[in-house]
Parts: sequence; C-alpha cells; structure tokens
Amino acid sequence: MHIITSRAELAQLVTQWHKENERIGVVPTMGALHNGHLTLVNALDGKVSRRIVTIFVNPIQFNNAEDFRLYPRGVDKDAALLADTGKVDVLYAPNENEMYPQGFSTRVLVSGLDGMLCGGDRPGHFDGVATIVTKLLLQTGADVAAFGEKDYQQLCIIRRLAADLNLPVEILPVPTVREADGLALSSRNRRLTTEQRTQAATLPAALTACLGALRAHQPAPPALAQCRATLEQAGFTVHYLELRAESDLHLTQAATPGTRLFVAASLGDIRLIDNMPV
Ligand code: PAF
Repeated sequence: MHIITSRAELAQLVTQWHKENERIGVVPTMGALHNGHLTLVNALDGKVSRRIVTIFVNPIQFNNAEDFRLYPRGVDKDAALLADTGKVDVLYAPNENEMYPQGFSTRVLVSGLDGMLCGGDRPGHFDGVATIVTKLLLQTGADVAAFGEKDYQQLCIIRRLAADLNLPVEILPVPTVREADGLALSSRNRRLTTEQRTQAATLPAALTACLGALRAHQPAPPALAQCRATLEQAGFTVHYLELRAESDLHLTQAATPGTRLFVAASLGDIRLIDNMPV
C-alpha cells in the first residue's frame, strides 16, 4: 500500500490508472478506522480494480472546535490496519493546506436535505461534508465510492450532489456494522467511558423495541415517546428521534417499508447517531 499526501502525486497516479482502464473505488474517511470502515473497503470487492482510502479530518464539517480537537486521530495505526487488508492500493492522507489552500472560498450546498435531522442542530455541517466529498471524488477520479448507512442523511446528500453535479461515480451504500450488543460502530465510541459504553447499548435496543411496536401497528407518536423516555432514563440527551422517508427524508407518521427511524442522542458531550429501517 502506497501512502500519498500530495494532491499532485495522486493526480498523476489516477491519470495513469485511467489510461490503463483501471476501475477506481474510494472509501472517504476521517480516520480512527474500525471494522465499519473495513466493511466499506470490502464492499468494493468485485466492483473495482484499484482501491483508495482517504483520511482527512475535515475542519469545515465541525461546527464545534472542541469536537474537532478531540476527534480521534492515529494515521500510523490506520495505515497498518489498511495495509493488513491486502486490498488497499493507496492511502491518501492530505494535510489541511493541501485541501484548503490560502484563499479557498467555495462551498457545496445541497439544499433541502441539509436543514433537518443533524443539519438542524449542526449548522454548516453538511456543507462541509458536501464540499470535501466533492473534492475527494474529483481528486480520486473514483468510479465507485462507498459510504455507510449509519450516516444515512450524509449518504442521501452525497447521492444528491453526485447526481446534480453529474459526477461519473456510483455511490455505494453499505449497511451499518454493529457491536455484539447492537451499538453501531463509530470512531466516536472510543471516547465513551466504560460506564457510558454500557449505557450506549440502550440506543440500538430502544430503537429495535420501537420498530417492533411500529411493525405491530402501534401509532408512531406513542411508540416514539416511549423510545425517547427509555433513552432519557438511560442518561441520554435526545436531540431528535424521528420517522422519515428514506427517499427524501420527509417526516412521516406512517411506519411503512421505505421509512426509517432516525436518532441523535448524547451521553455527556459525545453525540451518537443511529438509524434503522422499518
Ligand atoms: O463520514 C465521514 O467520515 C465523513 O463525513 C466523510 C464522508 C469522510 C467526509 O469528511
């Protein structure tokens, strides 16, 4: 596995690969890699002939300086993990100046999908995500890009921007990977204390119970209220708990196939998100 930090070097390699008719897959990440990321790498099996994983902790998608500062980092360990897969050709880990040189002033804004859920209380977050993902898709010349369904709103926004900007890339959604107790894998889980890690298991359990009630035709408002109460009793601050359509994320009370339960809830200052299909 080759580690590249320079955009010019990456461009040279991508041009060569395109000449050789290689099909390029990319997995954009912010590092602190876990099994969920490796599942994204594996999801490209049979779809591409070259794989690039990117690591860049993108400052413009953090609306909280402390969250950016505390975001787990460790490129050496990440590089070893990726090399061990034997599947990754390039780890692209540019620095901030490479991605946002002096004078950088463009933002990609996907309107409509960015004002709800995590967009509601993280203003500017999705503009930051859309901007960096557009840059990474262009820089890597990817034919396929894999994104986890855990960040479902992010996935919808990236699909939209790729379609709207006519980017010649397939956006590949990959189901959420979970711990044995159901907690969705996330780099942020590393920051949970032992006690918080135990509490965190309530999140998937409460969502699963809520889905059970919805599937048994209990009306959505009481089922959601019960789920919220369970989470609050377990020590969570609930930011949102909503049933929305997968297609365009509109709010609904009808728990039908094609809808999903979305949650964001914090333990202390650690914000966890999750979603599950009805
Ligand atoms: O999901 C993430 O890790 C990030 O939001 C992404 C897509 C790599 C953009 O920085």
